[in-house]
Amino acid sequence: MKWHDGTRENPKPCREKDEGNFEITIRDGQARLGKLHTKHGIVETPCLLPVINPNIRTIEPREMWDKYGIQALITNSYVIWKHDKLKNVALENGVHSLIDYPGMIMTDSGTFQSYVYGDVEVGVEEIVQFQKDIGVDVATMLDVFTRPDMKFSEVERAVIETIDRGKISVDTADEMMLNGPIQGGLYPDLRAKSAKGMSELGFSVHPIGGIVPIMEQQKYKDLAKIMFACKSNLAPNRPVHMFGCGHPMLFPMLIAMGADLFDSAAYVLFARDGRILTPWGTEKIAELEEWPILMPSITHFSPADVRKMNKEERTILLSKYNLEITLQEISRCRQAIRDGTIWRLAERRSHEHPALREAFLWLTTNPSKMKMEPLILDEVSASKEVGEEKGRWEENWDWLVNSQLTPRGGGESWGGMDTLNRPHIEMARRKVISRWKSRKPGDVILFHGTSAPWRDKIGGLVERICSLDYELFIQTPIGIIPWNLEDLNPWAHVEGPDWLWNSKPDFVKVQNELKSFGIHDRKLIPIDISDTEDLHNRVFELLGIEPTGREPDHKKENQIVDKLCVLCNVKQTDAISIIEGSTFVMSRTGRIRNVINSEGEHLFSPRLAEGGISLTVSGAKKLHQLRTGKIPSGFDSSDLNQHVGKGPAWVVVDSDAEPFVKDGRNVMHGFVTACDEWTRPGEIVLIVNSSGELLAFGRSQSTPAEFETFTKGIAVKVREGCP
Ligand code: GUN
Repeated sequence: MKWHDGTRENPKPCREKDEGNFEITIRDGQARLGKLHTKHGIVETPCLLPVINPNIRTIEPREMWDKYGIQALITNSYVIWKHDKLKNVALENGVHSLIDYPGMIMTDSGTFQSYVYGDVEVGVEEIVQFQKDIGVDVATMLDVFTRPDMKFSEVERAVIETIDRGKISVDTADEMMLNGPIQGGLYPDLRAKSAKGMSELGFSVHPIGGIVPIMEQQKYKDLAKIMFACKSNLAPNRPVHMFGCGHPMLFPMLIAMGADLFDSAAYVLFARDGRILTPWGTEKIAELEEWPILMPSITHFSPADVRKMNKEERTILLSKYNLEITLQEISRCRQAIRDGTIWRLAERRSHEHPALREAFLWLTTNPSKMKMEPLILDEVSASKEVGEEKGRWEENWDWLVNSQLTPRGGGESWGGMDTLNRPHIEMARRKVISRWKSRKPGDVILFHGTSAPWRDKIGGLVERICSLDYELFIQTPIGIIPWNLEDLNPWAHVEGPDWLWNSKPDFVKVQNELKSFGIHDRKLIPIDISDTEDLHNRVFELLGIEPTGREPDHKKENQIVDKLCVLCNVKQTDAISIIEGSTFVMSRTGRIRNVINSEGEHLFSPRLAEGGISLTVSGAKKLHQLRTGKIPSGFDSSDLNQHVGKGPAWVVVDSDAEPFVKDGRNVMHGFVTACDEWTRPGEIVLIVNSSGELLAFGRSQSTPAEFETFTKGIAVKVREGCP
């Protein structure tokens, strides 16, 4: 909130019992909008913590709070400790008074100085105690910096030493929130060891350390590998901070991989050098006739005006400009998380710089081994890494894919071959491929040549032939899809140029895809539906069926059966018996709105916007009754393939939560005691008590590891309680 005089109200401390907690409010895969609870306010993430040098304040911290709404910043406790004047004021009045800033203050510990200048003379406990004494909100332990040129054994020693120091530091910090940096240089195994070891200690935040030289050398592929190795091994309930990372170009990719906090002095350092940070790289003021982006700080000046300023004036102005651009890119990422498009943003940004492109391609193709072959030979094939240990990164890719929400609203805009490797598309494909089962023994008809909605174009034709033995598929730019799932996202909403839809099926690739659907050795009958003129007769002739004399055979229930299998993980035979004898309430456009069983109970409602399915209480009860497995007892997670047909995942809540959940209230983190191994964010789940009785149903917001570790925020969005 702003006061009329341009100042902003001071932050309210979080509730005492919440201090140090991190909660997710919205997620998009591993990217998350979160809240970090601190004594000096609840900080909304992802965010940038500008670096403040307590000796040189190019932009006043107070201005950062009042004018830019910056909720948190970082300064260096070692610098304060070393300068008697600063030290005494900080000890006397606290760090917030020293730098005149009311928001959350994080401090670093001197590790970076030891990397730049050699040893620092402060002790491990001493620097943590000092940070406590000056009242910082989030302190940092004295970790051991790992350089990218260090040998494995040296890095290993540093990782072990950091973990050992971590134990002492956590004890010294006591109630104070503490950063536990992850080291490990360029060695994925050591990054994983560091992440696991540090996760076990009582830290509040985990910065990724030792990445400054990697970013300076623009080795973004190494940065992506480090991020993968760290993030997938860290406790998911702790925010992750990118130490020394403040170039806006890197934000989308890192946020898509789960980064929550950034800090950087880049806005000032680059300004001093007359350089501007942009989401597409760095520009020199000396070469600019026009501003690349208009921002409040420079609206009254041209680049030429700024060049004429004295150095100090120019540095202040360009620092503000850099900060504004940087903050804007963070805002753009936050909005993309809300819109479910963070991966798309990272994909777009990857084209801005060759090193970023290299990183992005490595990320999307090497670990995943490209499940779909590209239609044309392109950079993907060219960028394949030679000599990379086989399968080395597959687990990490699975970790990323397993957090994706699907199906989801909104169109999928085609962005070239990258589209095929978007993790949420891969997740959607995995679900369909593992859970859908063919029910027809005959040849495969593949409709191709046009975009959705296919039911409007060939719905009538399909009604005529769907009772025959043919298995019907549609070709889309992101793979083939069974006809019964024709309105399911992402396949049903791919926005792309005509040639994408017009392209003829490649028989070898389609057969490969059919194989992944469990369909082998069937004849493929492609039918081009780009021109519907006389299509019925052409198809009847092709298939050798009589054009007249048969009533259309409405097989609408097949659609529901397939959706129950794919979206609720129901066994096909069970789905068929649930739907047997059902009647349907239809929409004006001839789509099923409600499914009513033979006893007159409303069980399910297809979601017309994205092709999903909603349960009713009766529907949830039916699915609950089907359960044959035992009540889950832990938080393990495993491949969807291993659990096909076991029904919607169960989430077990403790007895305190039971009455609330039964009443239709959301399940909050901290009250979940176990869940099935196939629980995924966005999936329909049944919420049960410890005896397995159904309490409610809803959509999981979390992975099993998140259920296990988070203590704040919504765990399952409950749709309805089951009385
Ligand atoms: N600042 C930049 N990198 C690092 C790091 O690895 N550790 C600490 N403590 N601070 C940093």
